[in-house]
Amino acid sequence: MKRAWFASIAVAAIALLAGVASRIDGVRPFLAFVVPYGALAILLAGLSWRVIRWSRAPVPFRIATVCGQQKSLPWIKAGWLESPSSTLGVVARMGLEVLLFRSLFRNTRARIDSGPRLIYGEAKWLWLGALAFHWSLLIVLLRHLRLVVQPVPKLSLLLERVDGFFQVGLPVLYATDIVLLAGLLYLLRRRLRDPQVRFISLFTDYFALFLLLGVALSGVWMRYFARVDVVAVKQLALSLTVFSPSLPKNLSAWFFVHLALVSTLAACLPFSKLMHMGGIFLSPTRNLANNNRMKRHVNPWNYPVKLHTYEEWEDEFRDKMKAAGLPVEKD
Ligand code: HEM
Repeated sequence: MKRAWFASIAVAAIALLAGVASRIDGVRPFLAFVVPYGALAILLAGLSWRVIRWSRAPVPFRIATVCGQQKSLPWIKAGWLESPSSTLGVVARMGLEVLLFRSLFRNTRARIDSGPRLIYGEAKWLWLGALAFHWSLLIVLLRHLRLVVQPVPKLSLLLERVDGFFQVGLPVLYATDIVLLAGLLYLLRRRLRDPQVRFISLFTDYFALFLLLGVALSGVWMRYFARVDVVAVKQLALSLTVFSPSLPKNLSAWFFVHLALVSTLAACLPFSKLMHMGGIFLSPTRNLANNNRMKRHVNPWNYPVKLHTYEEWEDEFRDKMKAAGLPVEKD
Protein backbone atom coordinates (compact mmCIF):
# COMPACT_ATOMS: atom_id res chain seq x y z
CA MET A 1 0.00 0.00 0.00
CA LYS A 2 2.95 2.28 0.78
CA ARG A 3 4.15 1.95 -2.82
CA ALA A 4 0.74 3.05 -4.11
CA TRP A 5 0.81 6.09 -1.85
CA PHE A 6 4.32 7.06 -2.97
CA ALA A 7 3.34 6.71 -6.62
CA SER A 8 0.17 8.78 -6.26
CA ILE A 9 2.09 11.47 -4.33
CA ALA A 10 4.80 11.54 -7.03
CA VAL A 11 2.19 12.06 -9.78
CA ALA A 12 0.32 14.68 -7.74
CA ALA A 13 3.63 16.49 -7.11
CA ILE A 14 4.44 16.62 -10.85
CA ALA A 15 0.95 17.98 -11.59
CA LEU A 16 1.14 20.55 -8.81
CA LEU A 17 4.62 21.67 -9.78
CA ALA A 18 3.60 22.14 -13.41
CA GLY A 19 0.40 24.00 -12.41
CA VAL A 20 2.23 26.38 -10.08
CA ALA A 21 5.24 26.88 -12.39
CA SER A 22 2.96 27.73 -15.32
CA ARG A 23 1.92 30.90 -13.45
CA ILE A 24 5.50 32.21 -13.63
CA ASP A 25 6.10 33.96 -16.96
CA GLY A 26 9.79 33.02 -17.17
CA VAL A 27 9.09 29.30 -16.65
CA ARG A 28 6.28 28.92 -19.20
CA PRO A 29 8.62 28.54 -22.23
CA PHE A 30 10.44 25.81 -20.33
CA LEU A 31 7.18 23.95 -19.71
CA ALA A 32 5.87 24.53 -23.22
CA PHE A 33 9.05 23.84 -25.25
CA VAL A 34 11.84 22.17 -23.27
CA VAL A 35 9.68 19.65 -21.41
CA PRO A 36 7.85 18.20 -24.47
CA TYR A 37 10.93 18.28 -26.72
CA GLY A 38 13.06 16.69 -23.99
CA ALA A 39 10.45 13.99 -23.35
CA LEU A 40 10.14 13.25 -27.07
CA ALA A 41 13.92 12.96 -27.42
CA ILE A 42 14.12 10.55 -24.46
CA LEU A 43 11.15 8.58 -25.84
CA LEU A 44 12.67 8.17 -29.31
CA ALA A 45 16.18 7.40 -28.05
CA GLY A 46 14.83 4.99 -25.40
CA LEU A 47 12.52 3.19 -27.84
CA SER A 48 15.34 2.78 -30.37
CA TRP A 49 17.73 1.54 -27.69
CA ARG A 50 15.24 -1.05 -26.41
CA VAL A 51 14.23 -2.30 -29.86
CA ILE A 52 17.82 -2.48 -31.12
CA ARG A 53 18.89 -4.36 -27.99
CA TRP A 54 16.03 -6.85 -28.32
CA SER A 55 16.53 -7.37 -32.03
CA ARG A 56 20.24 -8.09 -31.50
CA ALA A 57 19.53 -10.89 -29.02
CA PRO A 58 20.23 -14.13 -30.88
CA VAL A 59 17.30 -16.50 -31.31
CA PRO A 60 19.11 -19.67 -32.45
CA PHE A 61 16.05 -21.90 -32.65
CA ARG A 62 12.30 -21.75 -32.64
CA ILE A 63 10.84 -21.47 -29.17
CA ALA A 64 7.52 -23.19 -29.47
CA THR A 65 5.65 -22.66 -26.20
CA VAL A 66 2.34 -23.51 -27.76
CA CYS A 67 -0.77 -25.36 -26.74
CA GLY A 68 -1.65 -26.58 -30.25
CA GLN A 69 -0.61 -29.60 -32.28
CA GLN A 70 2.56 -29.01 -34.27
CA LYS A 71 2.41 -29.62 -38.04
CA SER A 72 3.84 -33.06 -38.70
CA LEU A 73 2.26 -36.03 -40.51
CA PRO A 74 -0.58 -35.27 -42.93
CA TRP A 75 -3.11 -37.35 -41.02
CA ILE A 76 -2.49 -35.54 -37.72
CA LYS A 77 -4.57 -32.37 -37.57
CA ALA A 78 -2.29 -29.39 -36.88
CA GLY A 79 -3.33 -26.29 -34.91
CA TRP A 80 -2.64 -23.65 -37.58
CA LEU A 81 -3.38 -20.76 -35.21
CA GLU A 82 -2.18 -22.20 -31.91
CA SER A 83 0.97 -23.64 -33.41
CA PRO A 84 1.42 -21.90 -36.75
CA SER A 85 3.93 -23.32 -39.18
CA SER A 86 3.62 -20.49 -41.74
CA THR A 87 4.14 -16.72 -41.64
CA LEU A 88 0.44 -16.19 -42.33
CA GLY A 89 -0.44 -18.19 -39.24
CA VAL A 90 2.06 -16.18 -37.18
CA VAL A 91 0.54 -12.91 -38.44
CA ALA A 92 -2.96 -14.16 -37.54
CA ARG A 93 -1.82 -15.25 -34.07
CA MET A 94 -0.01 -11.96 -33.47
CA GLY A 95 -2.93 -9.93 -34.84
CA LEU A 96 -5.42 -11.58 -32.49
CA GLU A 97 -3.00 -11.14 -29.59
CA VAL A 98 -2.39 -7.45 -30.24
CA LEU A 99 -5.93 -6.48 -31.19
CA LEU A 100 -7.98 -8.74 -28.90
CA PHE A 101 -5.52 -9.88 -26.17
CA ARG A 102 -6.31 -13.50 -26.99
CA SER A 103 -3.95 -15.07 -24.44
CA LEU A 104 -5.41 -12.91 -21.67
CA PHE A 105 -8.88 -14.16 -22.62
CA ARG A 106 -7.74 -17.62 -21.50
CA ASN A 107 -6.53 -16.29 -18.19
CA THR A 108 -7.65 -18.45 -15.27
CA ARG A 109 -7.77 -17.96 -11.56
CA ALA A 110 -6.65 -20.49 -8.95
CA ARG A 111 -8.04 -20.66 -5.43
CA ILE A 112 -8.00 -23.15 -2.58
CA ASP A 113 -11.49 -24.29 -1.63
CA SER A 114 -12.55 -26.14 1.52
CA GLY A 115 -11.26 -29.65 1.36
CA PRO A 116 -8.61 -28.30 0.72
CA ARG A 117 -9.11 -28.44 -3.03
CA LEU A 118 -7.35 -26.43 -5.73
CA ILE A 119 -9.94 -24.92 -8.07
CA TYR A 120 -9.35 -23.15 -11.36
CA GLY A 121 -11.99 -20.78 -12.63
CA GLU A 122 -12.67 -18.27 -15.38
CA ALA A 123 -11.16 -14.78 -15.02
CA LYS A 124 -12.53 -12.65 -17.83
CA TRP A 125 -12.77 -9.28 -16.06
CA LEU A 126 -9.06 -8.56 -16.41
CA TRP A 127 -9.31 -9.24 -20.13
CA LEU A 128 -12.34 -6.96 -20.49
CA GLY A 129 -10.84 -4.17 -18.36
CA ALA A 130 -7.52 -4.28 -20.21
CA LEU A 131 -9.21 -4.35 -23.62
CA ALA A 132 -11.52 -1.44 -22.75
CA PHE A 133 -8.62 0.63 -21.46
CA HIS A 134 -6.25 -0.01 -24.38
CA TRP A 135 -8.82 0.52 -27.12
CA SER A 136 -10.10 3.75 -25.58
CA LEU A 137 -6.53 5.00 -25.18
CA LEU A 138 -5.84 4.33 -28.86
CA ILE A 139 -9.02 6.14 -29.94
CA VAL A 140 -8.27 9.11 -27.64
CA LEU A 141 -4.75 9.38 -29.12
CA LEU A 142 -6.05 9.18 -32.70
CA ARG A 143 -8.64 11.86 -31.89
CA HIS A 144 -5.82 14.04 -30.52
CA LEU A 145 -4.37 14.23 -34.05
CA ARG A 146 -6.75 17.14 -34.64
CA LEU A 147 -4.58 19.15 -32.21
CA VAL A 148 -1.25 18.50 -33.89
CA VAL A 149 -2.03 18.00 -37.59
CA GLN A 150 -3.41 20.54 -40.04
CA PRO A 151 -5.64 19.84 -41.97
CA VAL A 152 -7.29 17.55 -39.42
CA PRO A 153 -7.04 13.91 -40.62
CA LYS A 154 -10.33 12.35 -41.78
CA LEU A 155 -9.83 9.42 -39.40
CA SER A 156 -9.72 11.82 -36.46
CA LEU A 157 -12.95 13.52 -37.56
CA LEU A 158 -14.68 10.18 -38.10
CA LEU A 159 -13.64 8.91 -34.68
CA GLU A 160 -14.87 12.13 -33.07
CA ARG A 161 -18.28 11.67 -34.66
CA VAL A 162 -18.59 7.99 -33.73
CA ASP A 163 -17.18 8.51 -30.23
CA GLY A 164 -19.56 11.40 -29.52
CA PHE A 165 -22.68 9.67 -30.85
CA PHE A 166 -24.44 10.08 -27.48
CA GLN A 167 -24.52 13.86 -28.14
CA VAL A 168 -24.85 14.47 -24.40
CA GLY A 169 -24.55 18.19 -23.57
CA LEU A 170 -21.91 20.58 -24.85
CA PRO A 171 -19.09 19.87 -25.41
CA VAL A 172 -20.18 16.50 -26.73
CA LEU A 173 -19.42 13.68 -24.31
CA TYR A 174 -16.97 11.13 -25.70
CA ALA A 175 -17.77 7.50 -24.81
CA THR A 176 -14.05 6.66 -24.78
CA ASP A 177 -13.41 9.18 -21.98
CA ILE A 178 -15.79 7.24 -19.72
CA VAL A 179 -14.47 3.84 -20.78
CA LEU A 180 -10.83 4.96 -20.41
CA LEU A 181 -11.40 6.19 -16.86
CA ALA A 182 -13.50 3.15 -15.95
CA GLY A 183 -10.82 0.79 -17.35
CA LEU A 184 -8.03 2.57 -15.46
CA LEU A 185 -10.00 2.58 -12.20
CA TYR A 186 -10.74 -1.13 -12.60
CA LEU A 187 -7.03 -1.93 -13.19
CA LEU A 188 -6.06 0.15 -10.16
CA ARG A 189 -8.76 -1.38 -7.96
CA ARG A 190 -7.65 -4.88 -8.94
CA ARG A 191 -4.04 -4.07 -8.05
CA LEU A 192 -5.06 -2.67 -4.67
CA ARG A 193 -7.77 -5.17 -3.74
CA ASP A 194 -6.30 -8.50 -4.83
CA PRO A 195 -3.76 -9.54 -2.14
CA GLN A 196 -1.64 -11.60 -4.54
CA VAL A 197 -1.46 -8.85 -7.17
CA ARG A 198 -0.79 -6.26 -4.46
CA PHE A 199 2.08 -8.37 -3.13
CA ILE A 200 3.90 -8.43 -6.48
CA SER A 201 3.14 -4.80 -7.38
CA LEU A 202 6.07 -2.41 -7.47
CA PHE A 203 6.25 1.37 -7.31
CA THR A 204 6.56 1.52 -11.11
CA ASP A 205 3.33 -0.47 -11.57
CA TYR A 206 1.39 2.08 -9.55
CA PHE A 207 3.29 5.01 -11.02
CA ALA A 208 2.30 4.06 -14.58
CA LEU A 209 -1.34 3.67 -13.58
CA PHE A 210 -1.51 6.93 -11.61
CA LEU A 211 0.29 8.76 -14.40
CA LEU A 212 -2.23 7.52 -16.98
CA LEU A 213 -5.06 8.38 -14.61
CA GLY A 214 -3.60 11.87 -14.10
CA VAL A 215 -3.32 12.41 -17.87
CA ALA A 216 -6.89 11.22 -18.46
CA LEU A 217 -8.37 13.20 -15.55
CA SER A 218 -6.60 16.44 -16.49
CA GLY A 219 -7.74 15.97 -20.11
CA VAL A 220 -11.34 15.35 -19.08
CA TRP A 221 -11.21 18.30 -16.72
CA MET A 222 -9.91 20.55 -19.52
CA ARG A 223 -12.58 19.46 -21.96
CA TYR A 224 -15.70 19.40 -19.82
CA PHE A 225 -15.04 21.80 -16.94
CA ALA A 226 -12.06 24.15 -17.36
CA ARG A 227 -12.75 24.67 -21.12
CA VAL A 228 -9.23 25.44 -22.30
CA ASP A 229 -8.59 27.49 -25.43
CA VAL A 230 -8.15 24.68 -27.97
CA VAL A 231 -7.10 27.13 -30.71
CA ALA A 232 -4.18 28.32 -28.56
CA VAL A 233 -3.21 24.71 -27.81
CA LYS A 234 -3.23 23.90 -31.52
CA GLN A 235 -1.14 26.98 -32.26
CA LEU A 236 1.49 25.79 -29.78
CA ALA A 237 1.35 22.17 -30.97
CA LEU A 238 1.74 23.15 -34.65
CA SER A 239 4.63 25.48 -33.84
CA LEU A 240 6.35 22.63 -31.99
CA THR A 241 5.88 20.22 -34.90
CA VAL A 242 7.68 22.57 -37.32
CA PHE A 243 10.46 23.30 -34.79
CA SER A 244 9.55 26.98 -34.60
CA PRO A 245 8.08 27.16 -31.11
CA SER A 246 5.86 30.09 -30.24
CA LEU A 247 3.92 30.52 -27.01
CA PRO A 248 0.31 31.73 -27.24
CA LYS A 249 -0.84 33.91 -24.33
CA ASN A 250 -4.03 32.29 -23.12
CA LEU A 251 -2.90 28.77 -22.26
CA SER A 252 -4.42 27.66 -18.97
CA ALA A 253 -2.55 26.05 -16.09
CA TRP A 254 -4.57 22.86 -16.63
CA PHE A 255 -3.04 22.49 -20.07
CA PHE A 256 0.46 22.69 -18.58
CA VAL A 257 -0.49 20.05 -16.01
CA HIS A 258 -1.75 17.78 -18.83
CA LEU A 259 1.38 18.40 -20.92
CA ALA A 260 3.76 17.79 -18.00
CA LEU A 261 2.06 14.48 -17.15
CA VAL A 262 2.04 13.38 -20.80
CA SER A 263 5.74 14.29 -21.09
CA THR A 264 6.59 12.34 -17.93
CA LEU A 265 4.70 9.36 -19.31
CA ALA A 266 6.56 9.60 -22.63
CA ALA A 267 9.97 9.91 -20.97
CA CYS A 268 9.34 6.97 -18.61
CA LEU A 269 7.79 4.70 -21.22
CA PRO A 270 10.96 3.09 -22.66
CA PHE A 271 12.26 2.25 -19.18
CA SER A 272 9.03 0.91 -17.77
CA LYS A 273 6.81 -2.10 -18.22
CA LEU A 274 4.76 0.00 -20.66
CA MET A 275 7.34 -1.15 -23.22
CA HIS A 276 5.26 -4.31 -23.59
CA MET A 277 3.70 -2.24 -26.36
CA GLY A 278 6.84 -2.82 -28.48
CA GLY A 279 8.03 -6.00 -26.80
CA ILE A 280 5.09 -8.08 -27.95
CA PHE A 281 6.25 -7.80 -31.57
CA LEU A 282 9.75 -8.97 -30.67
CA SER A 283 8.67 -11.84 -28.47
CA PRO A 284 10.13 -15.08 -29.90
CA THR A 285 7.32 -17.20 -28.48
CA ARG A 286 4.82 -15.12 -30.50
CA ASN A 287 6.65 -14.09 -33.68
CA LEU A 288 8.24 -17.37 -34.77
CA ALA A 289 6.56 -20.06 -36.82
CA ASN A 290 6.71 -23.50 -35.24
CA ASN A 291 8.38 -25.26 -38.18
CA ASN A 292 10.99 -27.22 -36.28
CA ARG A 293 10.08 -30.46 -38.04
CA MET A 294 9.88 -28.94 -41.52
CA LYS A 295 13.10 -26.96 -41.52
CA ARG A 296 16.51 -27.60 -40.03
CA HIS A 297 17.50 -24.70 -37.81
CA VAL A 298 21.23 -24.60 -37.21
CA ASN A 299 22.45 -22.85 -34.11
CA PRO A 300 24.56 -19.91 -35.38
CA TRP A 301 26.74 -20.17 -32.26
CA ASN A 302 27.91 -23.64 -33.24
CA TYR A 303 31.66 -23.59 -33.60
CA PRO A 304 33.50 -26.24 -35.70
CA VAL A 305 33.81 -29.40 -33.63
CA LYS A 306 36.17 -32.24 -34.50
CA LEU A 307 33.86 -35.21 -34.92
CA HIS A 308 34.64 -38.84 -34.13
CA THR A 309 31.99 -40.87 -35.96
CA TYR A 310 30.77 -44.29 -34.95
CA GLU A 311 32.44 -45.79 -38.03
CA GLU A 312 35.79 -44.35 -36.99
CA TRP A 313 35.25 -45.53 -33.41
CA GLU A 314 34.38 -49.05 -34.58
CA ASP A 315 37.44 -49.11 -36.87
CA GLU A 316 39.52 -48.29 -33.83
CA PHE A 317 38.05 -50.92 -31.50
CA ARG A 318 36.77 -53.62 -33.95
CA ASP A 319 39.32 -56.22 -32.90
CA LYS A 320 38.65 -55.72 -29.23
CA MET A 321 34.86 -55.73 -29.80
CA LYS A 322 35.05 -58.96 -31.75
CA ALA A 323 37.27 -60.53 -29.10
CA ALA A 324 34.73 -59.57 -26.44
CA GLY A 325 31.91 -61.03 -28.56
CA LEU A 326 30.23 -57.66 -29.19
CA PRO A 327 28.32 -57.16 -32.47
CA VAL A 328 30.02 -54.99 -35.09
CA GLU A 329 28.59 -53.26 -38.14
CA LYS A 330 31.48 -54.01 -40.51
CA ASP A 331 33.43 -57.28 -40.40
C1 HEM B 1 -0.50 9.98 -23.76
C2 HEM B 1 -1.00 11.01 -24.41
C3 HEM B 1 -2.32 11.68 -24.07
C4 HEM B 1 -3.44 11.15 -23.49
C5 HEM B 1 -3.67 9.74 -22.97
C6 HEM B 1 -4.43 12.22 -23.41
C7 HEM B 1 -5.70 12.09 -22.88
C8 HEM B 1 -6.68 13.03 -22.95
C9 HEM B 1 -8.05 12.83 -22.61
C10 HEM B 1 -8.65 11.53 -22.10
C11 HEM B 1 -8.71 14.00 -22.83
C12 HEM B 1 -10.21 14.24 -22.64
C13 HEM B 1 -10.92 14.65 -23.89
C14 HEM B 1 -10.70 13.76 -25.07
O1 HEM B 1 -10.83 12.54 -24.93
O2 HEM B 1 -10.35 14.29 -26.14
C15 HEM B 1 -7.74 14.94 -23.32
C16 HEM B 1 -8.02 16.23 -23.68
C17 HEM B 1 -7.10 17.13 -24.14
N1 HEM B 1 -5.77 16.90 -24.40
FE1 HEM B 1 -4.83 15.17 -24.13
N2 HEM B 1 -3.87 13.35 -23.93
C18 HEM B 1 -2.60 13.08 -24.37
C19 HEM B 1 -1.71 13.92 -24.99
C20 HEM B 1 -1.94 15.26 -25.23
C21 HEM B 1 -1.00 16.16 -25.84
C22 HEM B 1 0.42 15.82 -26.31
C23 HEM B 1 -1.62 17.37 -25.92
C24 HEM B 1 -1.04 18.63 -26.49
C25 HEM B 1 -1.11 18.91 -27.72
C26 HEM B 1 -2.95 17.22 -25.37
C27 HEM B 1 -3.91 18.23 -25.29
C28 HEM B 1 -5.21 18.04 -24.88
C29 HEM B 1 -6.22 19.09 -24.92
C30 HEM B 1 -6.03 20.53 -25.37
C31 HEM B 1 -7.40 18.50 -24.46
C32 HEM B 1 -8.77 19.19 -24.35
C33 HEM B 1 -9.49 18.93 -25.65
C34 HEM B 1 -10.85 19.55 -25.73
O3 HEM B 1 -11.12 20.49 -25.00
O4 HEM B 1 -11.59 19.04 -26.58
N3 HEM B 1 -3.11 15.93 -24.96
N4 HEM B 1 -6.50 14.34 -23.37
